[in-house]
Amino acid sequence: MRRPLVAGNWKMHGTRASVAELIEGLRRQSLSGDAEVAVFPSCLHIAQVVEGLAEVPVVIGGQDCAVEPQQGALTGEVAASQLREAGCAMVLVGHSERRLSLGESDEVVVRKFVAAQACGLIPVLCVGETLAQREAGETLVVVGRQLAAIVDAQGVGVFARAVVAYEPVWAIGTGLTASPEQAQEVHAAIRARLAAQDADVAGKVRILYGGSVKAANAAELFGMPDIDGGLVGGASLNADEFGAICRAAGN
Ligand code: PGA
Repeated sequence: MRRPLVAGNWKMHGTRASVAELIEGLRRQSLSGDAEVAVFPSCLHIAQVVEGLAEVPVVIGGQDCAVEPQQGALTGEVAASQLREAGCAMVLVGHSERRLSLGESDEVVVRKFVAAQACGLIPVLCVGETLAQREAGETLVVVGRQLAAIVDAQGVGVFARAVVAYEPVWAIGTGLTASPEQAQEVHAAIRARLAAQDADVAGKVRILYGGSVKAANAAELFGMPDIDGGLVGGASLNADEFGAICRAAGN
């Protein structure tokens, strides 16, 4: 049995005041514990969130980490070891906004994934196709390639300490959600690819869906056999909405 995970990606949002409000809102949610809950604030707000949610069963994560695991001379970057020390247990790697806007390659994503695990963080590997790639029928090839970058370099065993997030780029922040069937097809393909090398690891790894998840569509998505929760952007900035999504995952 895989424990569902709902992860809130706050992206480059928040001020100290709005984050304080979000913390208060999250503290008011009744979270059953059936689903694991995580939030990914901007680096600037990690300390505030770690402190504010200290008595709440919510995991804190970073949105990205440097390719080098340890602190050093790399201006503007944040090391996985620094995230860990600040109270993070997870980190997103390979989010499409970084792959596409900042030109992050599979090679860079692999190094970040490795750096995260080297510091005891659980990497949440984001994969997904653009609209053009979907329309060209390349979805499974693209996602397979993003997954293979890690498997070929590190072996499938590393997914025993990682999470995968399938996020079709065309569904992120657009209000367009993949249908539960569309998402399930890709999730099943991801699991099958991993299972071809290690059925045990594939059976245990959590595969989240991301892309315009909201309270209104969460239950339907999470009801699919290979969807183990969600990576939630916009809707995670509203504590009540996010709480409802977490409860949908726990049911
Ligand atoms: P969204 O973002 O829920 O706002 O579509 C998801 C993500 O990019 O992680």
